[in-house]
Amino acid sequence: MEIIITDTPDEVARVAADIIAGVVRSRPDAVLGVATGSSPGATYQRLAELSAPSAPGRVDFSAVTVFALDEYVGLPAGHPESYAAVVSREIVRPLGIDPANAHVPDGAAADADAAAAAYDAAIAGAGGIELQLLGIGRNGHVGFNEPSSSLSSRTRVKTLAPQTRADNARFFDSPDQVPVHCITQGLGTIGDARRLLLVAQGAEKADAIAHAVEGPLSSRWPASILQLHRHATVVVDEAAASGL
Ligand code: GLP
Repeated sequence: MEIIITDTPDEVARVAADIIAGVVRSRPDAVLGVATGSSPGATYQRLAELSAPSAPGRVDFSAVTVFALDEYVGLPAGHPESYAAVVSREIVRPLGIDPANAHVPDGAAADADAAAAAYDAAIAGAGGIELQLLGIGRNGHVGFNEPSSSLSSRTRVKTLAPQTRADNARFFDSPDQVPVHCITQGLGTIGDARRLLLVAQGAEKADAIAHAVEGPLSSRWPASILQLHRHATVVVDEAAASGL
């Protein structure tokens, strides 16, 4: 595993964006896995700068395909905090990705289990994911694979941990509006990506980063699956690296 420790949170975004831009430059029709949450936000902003028509050596995302990691189950259609809306607002539109090439699990499906299985199959059908961008939860979750998730799990319906619902309450008007269930790529699905890139900033992620990078491989800390991967990169600022 490659660990890159930067002085500032801004540098995390610059380094991560440069890695992603490099993938797209060498393969303009790359399939990327994208994460939501606050951690990758600055990375997307940096990529938007790099893809602007006026940017020198501009990166063109128009042929890129993206698959989101996860989605809430049961939010009303068009809810601004659904990950479909977040992916559209923070990634697809700013980077100039074709909306037809942007995929998010269907959290409104009548049969969520079938929707999850179809999503897993769609990733494989697209040739798999070239690079999967990841954040990390304070409890070590990736996607919405909460502690105790099977290390070989596929895309499926999960129940959110109380801490994750509390952490994500900031995106909603009240804590009870945070959905209880989600569809998430499984740890096995994530591990199938040819490259993993995890970004984290801030001292509140230090414990999770330490367990992910230096702890034993364990479903107690789902991000420890990075240790199994042939090409995993972790980009963290000094604060998030403080437990290493
Ligand atoms: C969210 C997402 C994850 C994300 C994590 C950390 O709930 N499902 O993909 O990595 O929790 O979120 P944040 O980056 O906002 O701290």
